Amino acid sequence: MDGDHGWVRVAGASLSAGTTTEATLDDHDLVVWRTTDGRPCVMEARCPHQWSHLAGEGAVEGDELVCLTHFWRFTTEGEGWKENIGGRRDRKGDIRTWPCREDADGIWVRRGD
Ligand code: FES
Repeated sequence: MDGDHGWVRVAGASLSAGTTTEATLDDHDLVVWRTTDGRPCVMEARCPHQWSHLAGEGAVEGDELVCLTHFWRFTTEGEGWKENIGGRRDRKGDIRTWPCREDADGIWVRRGD
């Protein structure tokens, strides 16, 4: 699935808003997901807390991917947060993201340097 200029297709265009799927890029396990308003995001699949695979244990909530194991949540920029029942948010570990784009063939990521 190698494309031009280091872009690699990691998911089909049919990935629904608010859902996740898994992919691999070289040695990296990735999670590909869409926010509930449909924007694609590609990030490391393994939660930095205790390594849950976010394609299986992750659930999209708005613009964030929530790890259902202990409820750390990640923005599309990879910032890690935890939100308590009262709505207070505390910073947690960040997760790597990859630059991505979308066309009629699907969602693509660019290989890092
Ligand atoms: S393993 Fe993801 S929050 Fe604990």
